[in-house]
Amino acid sequence: MIILFTSFKGGVGKSSLAFNLATYINSIYITNDIIAIDDKAVIQIEPKKKRIPIQLLSETNAVLDFGAMSTQVDPKVSHALSICDVVIIPTMTDARSLQATIDTVNLVKAANKPIAIIINNFTNQKKFNQAAQRLINALGHLPILSIRSTTLFERVSRDGQDWLQNIHNDHGEHQLNKTRVAHEAVYNAILKLGGGE
Ligand SMILES: Nc1ncnc2c1ncn2[C@@H]1O[C@H](COP(=O)(O)OP(=O)(O)OP(=O)(O)O)[C@@H](O)[C@H]1O
Ligand SMILES: [Mg+2]
Repeated sequence: MIILFTSFKGGVGKSSLAFNLATYINSIYITNDIIAIDDKAVIQIEPKKKRIPIQLLSETNAVLDFGAMSTQVDPKVSHALSICDVVIIPTMTDARSLQATIDTVNLVKAANKPIAIIINNFTNQKKFNQAAQRLINALGHLPILSIRSTTLFERVSRDGQDWLQNIHNDHGEHQLNKTRVAHEAVYNAILKLGGGE
């Protein structure tokens, strides 16, 4: 399964979520970020390349993290859209992010792939509800997933994939472990949307 994370908006959590999902399903992670997560498992594609090298896509699973840019759409996003099984658009709850998310959905829907939005990095339930309503008003019903603000991403980047895969209810990790379960529910929903189990 090929899972594409994209958005016109920067800083909405594409890389954090995409990398965690790749870790969760033990797949390769490919990005067009110029400054990417510092990990040996990260595959970066140079800005001047127009397509994703095909040999990378022979893997069973791949998670693609491709910022769309705004004035010009990165051609790799069009390539990614044509080969992916599902498109995930993370957003924050502020007005600019929501507008960029609506624009992104309108760009990607021509590809006719399942789309889900993740409302990410919020603490206030009311803000989440308002954001979800704004999206539904503009786009009609589409799957909206949620990821609250968390320190989990810091732990993954500090302690790596092993930590995410092996976390137990160690002393002091109870809350983080609960968060991990919530994240896994979101990742499982994405896999289901992409046609997996
Ligand atoms: N749910 C969350 N809780 C806490 N911090 C978060 C959450 N999601 C994202 N962040 C933080 O927000 C910042 C931006 O996230 P990230 O780099 O994943 O976004 P991006 O969409 O890939 O950005 P860019 O467009 O620059 O590539 C990071 O510092 C990340 O740790
Ligand atoms: Mg990024």
